Amino acid sequence: MDELAKIIHTDNIRLSGDGRSVVILDQTQLPNRVVYLTLSREEDCYEAILKLRVRGAPAIGIFAGYAMYVLAQQYAHLPYDAFAAEFHRQREYLNASRPTAVNLNWALARMEQVVTDGAGQPAAEILDRLRAECTAIHQEDISMCTRIAEYGLTLVKDGDGILTHCNAGPLATSRYGTALGPILLGKERGMEFRVFADETRPLLQGARLTSFELQKAGVDVTLICDNMASIVMKNGWVQACFVGCDRIAANGDFANKIGTSGVAILAKHYGIPFYTLGPTSTIDMACPDGDHIPVEQRDPGEIREKFYAEPMALQEVKCYNPAFDVTDHTLLTAIVTEKGICYPPFTESLKKLFE
Ligand code: MRU
Repeated sequence: MDELAKIIHTDNIRLSGDGRSVVILDQTQLPNRVVYLTLSREEDCYEAILKLRVRGAPAIGIFAGYAMYVLAQQYAHLPYDAFAAEFHRQREYLNASRPTAVNLNWALARMEQVVTDGAGQPAAEILDRLRAECTAIHQEDISMCTRIAEYGLTLVKDGDGILTHCNAGPLATSRYGTALGPILLGKERGMEFRVFADETRPLLQGARLTSFELQKAGVDVTLICDNMASIVMKNGWVQACFVGCDRIAANGDFANKIGTSGVAILAKHYGIPFYTLGPTSTIDMACPDGDHIPVEQRDPGEIREKFYAEPMALQEVKCYNPAFDVTDHTLLTAIVTEKGICYPPFTESLKKLFE
């Protein structure tokens, strides 16, 4: 496999050979070390999500599906009611690891539905169905990402400059990714884009992950600090912004990595189209607007000292560290999903997706 194919087609989340553990590429160690972890304890699965060893909305959902199957095997000897109660407890436990990406709750709900539907059936059959369900969640994500990449590619032309924020590539999903999907699919077809990757403070997903994936894939990528997006746009180097999403509300407001809304405001100022790309599993029709999206707050140490040789702020200084912000739907040109491209008014175009 060449490097481009390796980046696109490696399964960074999978079941172990014996099906008793989930294997993940530890994203916190990139780009310096490629380390795979084998997880089979609930605390380790929770920690992997919380600490962003596995991250990106679709990837968290895929991981949670596999994790529930792995954990369920450990208490499959229990009578059905006790089994279902333990399954429910673990679902709630994993769901509490991160609040913003709706894909986590979505995948966990799918897994629990299998258990509910299995009432009265032998444990071995329920386990077989759980395995089929988590495999289906993963397979569906692969086909959704491929279709999102196809739709996204229709929005840009060969040679365009594209700015992206955070990481919505294969590491955050499966195969092509969402926001990076059109870029990687285009590359496979011989197209060349010039990509600007925001470093994405404070956890540097753009520097550590996006520029890593694109550089390895042979894409022309330039890493910039978050505060450089304006000059890059002003220079005329950006023809479109592609970003991922963690939860899209029914009116088109959407949560994505902190800093995304600032990029959208800049893009509007410079007249650059701004797109979010994500599977329909990221759309939460029960959430009316961005004010109803829970925004995760994270450890202040991520701002003060992480990645620095010594702290860059006094220990006692107050920090505000939201992991996500909400971009207002009025700043959004379109939402690219596996079912097609939604344009404003989003209340109508999103509703049509689910009809
Ligand atoms: O905190 P993270 O790194 O999980 O945040 C990820 C993002 O904001 C991504 O853009 C989003 O999950 C989409 S991934 C296809």
